[in-house]
Amino acid sequence: MLQYDWRLCLAVSVVLPPLAVATTLFHKYGMKAYRDLRAQTSRITGAMAENIAGVRVAQAFAREEENLVRFQQLQGVYFDRFLVVARLFHTYLPFVGLVSGLGTAIILGYGGSLVMQRAITVGEFAAFILYLGMFFGPIQTMGDLYNAVLSTAASAERIFQLLDTEPQIRDRPDASALPPVRGHIIFDHVYLRYDTTPAGTWVLRDICLEAEPGQIVALVGATGSGKTSIISLLARFYEPQQGRITMDGIDLQTATSESLHKQIGIVTQDNFLFTGTVMENIRFGRTDATGEEVIEASKRLGAHQVISRFEKGYATPVAERGSNFSAGERQLICFVRAMVARPRILILDEATSAVDPHTETLLQGALEKLFERRTSFVIAHRLSTVCHAHQILVLQHGEIVERGTHDQLLVSGGHYAKLYAEFVRH
Ligand SMILES: Nc1ncnc2c1ncn2[C@@H]1O[C@H](COP(=O)(O)OP(=O)(O)O)[C@@H](O)[C@H]1O
Ligand SMILES: [Mg+2]
Repeated sequence: MLQYDWRLCLAVSVVLPPLAVATTLFHKYGMKAYRDLRAQTSRITGAMAENIAGVRVAQAFAREEENLVRFQQLQGVYFDRFLVVARLFHTYLPFVGLVSGLGTAIILGYGGSLVMQRAITVGEFAAFILYLGMFFGPIQTMGDLYNAVLSTAASAERIFQLLDTEPQIRDRPDASALPPVRGHIIFDHVYLRYDTTPAGTWVLRDICLEAEPGQIVALVGATGSGKTSIISLLARFYEPQQGRITMDGIDLQTATSESLHKQIGIVTQDNFLFTGTVMENIRFGRTDATGEEVIEASKRLGAHQVISRFEKGYATPVAERGSNFSAGERQLICFVRAMVARPRILILDEATSAVDPHTETLLQGALEKLFERRTSFVIAHRLSTVCHAHQILVLQHGEIVERGTHDQLLVSGGHYAKLYAEFVRH
């Protein structure tokens, strides 16, 4: 266009500054609007997932109506935010159209007068107008694309936020793999608080304990006293703010998490099964375990009978989060999973809470074998499970208030003796 006529070209460029301003504004407000919209999408997805997962609780408490109202409120906010985005875009795009129309009008007026003055030929004028179309066409297309770019950028921001999340526990750059351990564990004046723990208070305070290889250590205490927290430290799901935890003399913080987790077997209260078959779930911790080994282990734990009752036995498919099994059945499968993995250190956190007393007795017998030659940590409310432990630690408000064997603690007549008296009475 510059080659054809610099005056016309200059006249057209009058429209560029308003176009630039409009685009800058659209970028600024559009980005914010899209961010808000995406955040709301997350809330809706989250609420949907929660409501579907918790549908039984919602039904049991007759909360359907209320949950629906809440969901509709979320949708209402989404609708409003969508309107903001739509308004912005549908102001910007027509504005771009208007400006390019204005540009064309300027050329028609100014160029027309130049033709009348015979400063340019009609041919040049016609060519210029064609070029003008080629100039504004892409700008309008870009406007349209720009909307998609903003929308995508807002989504990408959220995805990268997730990808960039730093794990709380990371291996030190100089961390080394833990060699196969004997299971000599020491907690040396350990203090722990979580991110959300109020300042000035501790979840665990001055925890000192020593477990010899092969010992069974039982943790006893009221709900919320910090039993699971001790276990979480041992498995290095969290790190203490003060004090040290060593395994065979090696500070856990200098070891790689993977080498630690390979040697630990955990069975908890809320066990997790993955989709797949029962067999696949049992082999989870040691994929090269043979079928015979699995059956042998589950026979010893009294799980074989239960699993054989399923229509397809070990090939029974596991639904999402194991929802096609009872809590007790899940616990049994997890016991077998822990046993097959042959961990050096075994952790049972209220692991028998969901099985019936008969199965528990069966497990009890099997556990003695499972405990052999491994250091074990056991948390259980049925004190019959823990009375054989080599040492029992009684926790209260994050502190160890008593320690000793079952007999010693009964004689000393403290918290444990009271707990046990209550337990026996029921
Ligand atoms: N991930 C966590 N984030 C924040 N606080 C936690 C977390 N886990 C446990 N707590 C708090 O730490 C305390 C001890 O919890 P926990 O060790 O699970 O107790 P227990 O297993 O003895 O019932 C509780 O007061 C609980 O609220
Ligand atoms: Mg617990």
